[in-house]
Amino acid sequence: MVAWISGFITFDPGLSPMGTLVLVGAQWGDEGKGKIADFLSEQADMVVRYQGGANAGHTVVVQGKEYRLHLIPSGVLSGKTCVIGNGVVVDPAQLLEEMERLQAAGFDVSRVFVSDAAHVIMPYHKLFDVLEEDRRGERKLGTTGRGIGPAYRDKFSRVGIRVCDLLDARVFREKLEHHLSQVNSVLELIYQREPLPLEQMLEAYLTYGERLRPHVTDTSLLVNRAIDEGKRVLFEGAQGTLLDIEHGTYPYVTSSHPTAGGACIGAGVGPTRIKRVMGVVKAYVTRVGDGPFPTEETGEAGAWLRARGREFGTTTGRPRRCGWLDLVALRYAARLSALDSLAVTKLDTLTGLDVVRVCTAYECDGARLTEWPRCSEALARCRPVYEELPGWQEDISGARRLEDLPPAARKYLEAIEEAVQVPLAIVSVGPDRRETILRAELF
Ligand code: GDP
Ligand code: IMO
Ligand code: MG
Repeated sequence: MVAWISGFITFDPGLSPMGTLVLVGAQWGDEGKGKIADFLSEQADMVVRYQGGANAGHTVVVQGKEYRLHLIPSGVLSGKTCVIGNGVVVDPAQLLEEMERLQAAGFDVSRVFVSDAAHVIMPYHKLFDVLEEDRRGERKLGTTGRGIGPAYRDKFSRVGIRVCDLLDARVFREKLEHHLSQVNSVLELIYQREPLPLEQMLEAYLTYGERLRPHVTDTSLLVNRAIDEGKRVLFEGAQGTLLDIEHGTYPYVTSSHPTAGGACIGAGVGPTRIKRVMGVVKAYVTRVGDGPFPTEETGEAGAWLRARGREFGTTTGRPRRCGWLDLVALRYAARLSALDSLAVTKLDTLTGLDVVRVCTAYECDGARLTEWPRCSEALARCRPVYEELPGWQEDISGARRLEDLPPAARKYLEAIEEAVQVPLAIVSVGPDRRETILRAELF
């Protein structure tokens, strides 16, 4: 190892040759999980989505071509077995459309599997998502409108429709008939809307079921068998730690568990089978939707980051709110998921700044905080305490080793490692699969 790298935390080589890795967004989503998942997929045998739904938008660039994935794991682009686990809420129309699009682009989707126990996004989930947002007015959450919250609500209320239900016309009719009558009462009485017709919905969803049938299976069995056989399994998180329903900036969160623990529940694997957990960290922070964001820059600096980083939503096209890297939040993310390595993305976006700021603590109600406050109202009162680091001017997109980076960029990465006490495994310096620095063999 050359001398200057000595500032970085060294990897425990004993940690390297392991077969299961959970990839977690360490911020508010859009950290570049798709890019990193695609990069790691080359070394994996199976890639598994475990939570969320088509609210996710994972952009992957391979040889200059851009692919946007919402439900299918990024492993599809390298021909790997892909699993949509029981913890995902599946919009069947969206899934079929995504399969068709990938197939038309020449990818094999025959090994995309969907859990029979995954819940299904129904038309009324999307409708409620929009109607409820309208009703919240000033208190809106800024959801993606994909029906995510209402679908998880039905799951926990035990009135959800699951993928296996779509494969049995009698069962599906019985469940939908019963639940739709309640849905329609709410639509008519609370929202003064026309009721949704049963027969049309039944027919459309039974057709989706038939088309998906060859892909539907007990994916927990599939994933556990793969692990038993020594296969390398990558769990691709969607959203991010700070959007976790349990640990995020509640109520400005999504309705699932993007944190590493979510992989166990959402894929049906036990915690002892998870060997590695990597956090994907954008070199600065973005957030789409509403809710507190201590390091947000609403002025020139934010506009600069948005323009440089092309920070517009993959799913909704909304401009992303932008700000400086928040190390308080990152330490929190590292704790919640027991991150044992980091992938820092979009380092190239920061090129051209004279100084780069990182938030090391908050000032809140006259006190200095170094730990993340769990109450969103308190977080909204937090003011960031910044450390300024020297910037760099060189184009770094051609860097393929840490040694290729200018000293100031390396110092920036070292500062992240040091603050979080988690070793850096990957640095991404551009959207393309090739524009990546791999620091250690991970599988
Ligand atoms: P995800 O939801 O976490 O997968 O992230 P998104 O795909 O929504 O947003 C990340 C965006 O940044 C995408 O457009 C990626 O192509 C792009 N991207 C990923 N890594 C890098 C990088 O290192 N540099 C640059 N410039 N763009 C990147
Ligand atoms: P990926 O996987 C960024 C945000 C929404 C909103 C909140 C709740 O691409 O990182 P929801 O529709 O889930 O009920 O919206 O969560 N959100 C995301 N933000 N990236 C995502 O996914 C997101 N998925 C949901 O903007 O603030
Ligand atoms: Mg995204």
